[in-house]
Amino acid sequence: MNSTSGLPRQPRRAFLARGGAATTLLLLQPKGVFGAEANSQVALGLIGCGGRGSWIAQLFAANGGYRWVACADYFPDRVAAVGDRFQIAADRRYTGLSAYQRLLASPLDAVVIETPPYFHPIHAAAAVEAGKHVYLAKPVGVDVPGCLKIAQAGQQATAKNLVFLVDFQTRANDLYREALRRVRKGDLGPLVLGEASYPWAGGGRGLPPADPEQRLRQWYYVLPLSGDFIVEQSVHALDVATWILDAAPLRAAGVAGRKVRPQGSIMDHFAVTYWFPNDVSLAFACIQSIPEVKDEIRCRVFGAEGVIDTDYFGNVFIRGNEPFPGGNVGNLYTTGVQTNIREFHQFITTGNVANPTVAPSVRSTLTAILGREAGYRGGELSWDALLKEAKVLEPDLRGVKS
Ligand SMILES: NC(=O)c1ccc[n+]([C@@H]2O[C@H](COP(=O)([O-])OP(=O)(O)OC[C@H]3O[C@@H](n4cnc5c(N)ncnc54)[C@H](O)[C@@H]3O)[C@@H](O)[C@H]2O)c1
Repeated sequence: MNSTSGLPRQPRRAFLARGGAATTLLLLQPKGVFGAEANSQVALGLIGCGGRGSWIAQLFAANGGYRWVACADYFPDRVAAVGDRFQIAADRRYTGLSAYQRLLASPLDAVVIETPPYFHPIHAAAAVEAGKHVYLAKPVGVDVPGCLKIAQAGQQATAKNLVFLVDFQTRANDLYREALRRVRKGDLGPLVLGEASYPWAGGGRGLPPADPEQRLRQWYYVLPLSGDFIVEQSVHALDVATWILDAAPLRAAGVAGRKVRPQGSIMDHFAVTYWFPNDVSLAFACIQSIPEVKDEIRCRVFGAEGVIDTDYFGNVFIRGNEPFPGGNVGNLYTTGVQTNIREFHQFITTGNVANPTVAPSVRSTLTAILGREAGYRGGELSWDALLKEAKVLEPDLRGVKS
């Protein structure tokens, strides 16, 4: 990744040795014992063995630069499925709420965190504290204190020579990267306004279960665990918007409601207007569970000289005085992750700890939280007031095993 070049480099062996005991030992073996390939493998632990955790585990394994040595999940069935599939030793499979602590105390170099968003700041900060490199699913948190904890953990990671990567697929795509490079170069002229949207056929019409353990399985519908869908999902669109606009919003005004899921604990639609520095505005809308709707994660920003148009499921291009034909992003859901996995390995093995994904991911998650809070209030809220308020979302975990 070119935005991280220019950092002081360390010899790979010395760098990996800081990451964790597992690879330290491995790297000190003579090459002939394990072969060159095994010598460069990063020892990984997975926290959160659900849908995405088990899916991404396969992509890490296919990369060739990693080996799975430990896994953790609240539920034994989830841990067993991943453990069996990736031949993880029985005594390196951890369950319960404190599973992540036991995993972090065991010898490994890096962790992949695929738990519900509420737990991301807790799990990621503990991983950095334990000296592990971190690969983290979006969003970075569900509230302001959680996001600030991630910002701090990212800085601490850099100070401790650790890699911390947040897995936004758009940021890993060449078409997005090139289009953004051109925007920065000034190809759109002065930016005027933008629009972003995330209509989605999925989302379901479910309710949060009453059983405390089952709420961990159905966390999407539990507000303090997911942060509501504007944070959990729409952050993808808002991440692209804040990337293009290269700023955090100054304030937002919004509406939100439950017309599709009248009894849900999260909303089913939000419409938010954001105001950015230099009088640039962004109109944002997200809605879900609408049958047959075409899924889009769209962001368009207009400048005086042209417009950038992006869709996670479609094309990226610029029209105007300096056009960029761009193209179709293809299966970004998978290819974006494959690139992030490849770059995570590259950063670890070259000692590149600039960790450029952390600050923008904190910014975009906070932008989504600002939209959520403005929507809940049906009114206007400033960025500064949001940060000052520092509202905490706390799930009720009574009845859940430690
Ligand atoms: N395109 C994307 O970037 C993308 C797509 C899907 C999901 N995600 C993100 O991935 C994360 C996981 O989503 P998912 O769809 O796999 O959910 P999931 O429910 O399928 O998996 C989450 C797992 O975490 C476990 N878990 C819950 N609390 C835990 C705790 N305290 N400690 C250990 N394990 C715990 C659950 O038992 C479950 O197995 C979320 O943050 C989500 O936003 C990102």
